[in-house]
Amino acid sequence: STMALALSPQMGWNSWNFFACNINETVIKETADALISTGLADLGYIYVNIDDCWSLPTRNSKGELVADPETFPSGIRALADYIHGKGLKLGIYSDAGVFTCQVRPGSLNYEKDDAEQFASWGVDYLKYDNCYNLGIKPEKRYPPMRNALNATGRTIFYSICEWGVDDPALWAGKVGNSWRTTDDINDSWASMTTIADLNNKWAAYAGPGGWNDPDMLEVGNGGMTYEEYRAHFSIWALMKAPLLIGCDVRNMSEDTFELLSNKEVIAVNQDSLGVQGRRVHVAGENDCRQVWAGPLSGNCLVVALWNRCSKAATITAEWELLGLQSSTSVSVRDLWKREDLSGYAVASFGVQVAAHDCEMYIFTPQIASHSEI
Ligand code: GLA
Repeated sequence: STMALALSPQMGWNSWNFFACNINETVIKETADALISTGLADLGYIYVNIDDCWSLPTRNSKGELVADPETFPSGIRALADYIHGKGLKLGIYSDAGVFTCQVRPGSLNYEKDDAEQFASWGVDYLKYDNCYNLGIKPEKRYPPMRNALNATGRTIFYSICEWGVDDPALWAGKVGNSWRTTDDINDSWASMTTIADLNNKWAAYAGPGGWNDPDMLEVGNGGMTYEEYRAHFSIWALMKAPLLIGCDVRNMSEDTFELLSNKEVIAVNQDSLGVQGRRVHVAGENDCRQVWAGPLSGNCLVVALWNRCSKAATITAEWELLGLQSSTSVSVRDLWKREDLSGYAVASFGVQVAAHDCEMYIFTPQIASHSEI
């Protein structure tokens, strides 16, 4: 069922961004092993999600989906047992159409059978794609799978992958635990920034139980610089996006691990208030000096100073942009340097940020002292 799930955005790994169709059970098991051995699982990355291409191109004579015996010879149930044995959860992929995007069988009109199949295998998460949908409205195609998953009695996270086509933020909150707001990400600065802006538009619709999904992380896949990946991870965390790692965690660089494993940035994403941070201010040529912010539990704020200009620039957050009175004293914690800045900031806080980099802070407003009687 989708109840009481996704109280914070889902965290884990998905095969698509790095492996595409080049997947097999060894890769999935080794990824689970690596999530444990690196400590990423302990930081919250618990879903191990198989994307497209796990199944044979045709159903069997009973009409069932069949895992490709060449690449998944032990079958999905054995894989789920392995993943569960490590304390992790297994995700699978299907499509609200007649085929998946890579032309494997889709689940349209097979919702009940496929949901039961997934539940009997011990699957914990379903990503449900939008290809080959016969032009039927998503509002008609996505609820039947929700109902079928709920009817299994197994707790299965329901990830709606409708690409933002029919404004899913407006209807998917009642249907799934997250919904894609955009087309597919690719491993480039242009794609990542475009997607961040598109996802920002729907901030008001996210909250505990259902999240906007600007697609999976590209951190560690090689197409962006360290600074760009730091911005990508910072903004995804602030936007309460699902944190689904999309690189090969068996062979991560130290830089990649450092970004993905920053506990304080992860804590922003998983904060119990569950409010999606947004872009609150832009300045400079092409609006490239940006302030993104949002409220956190305990009366704190997360503030990101994101430099989308091609040169270093000073970016300043004014208290009035953050809904604070300008006289308020604020203590500032730097989440990337992992240190408290000395003293208090009043009225504004600005720093120089390297090109394409993003600095991230938690602001703790000091409670005003009452005057004595
Ligand atoms: C679509 C989805 C992607 C991925 C591929 C797999 O493009 O949006 O995230 O699942 O299909 O074919």
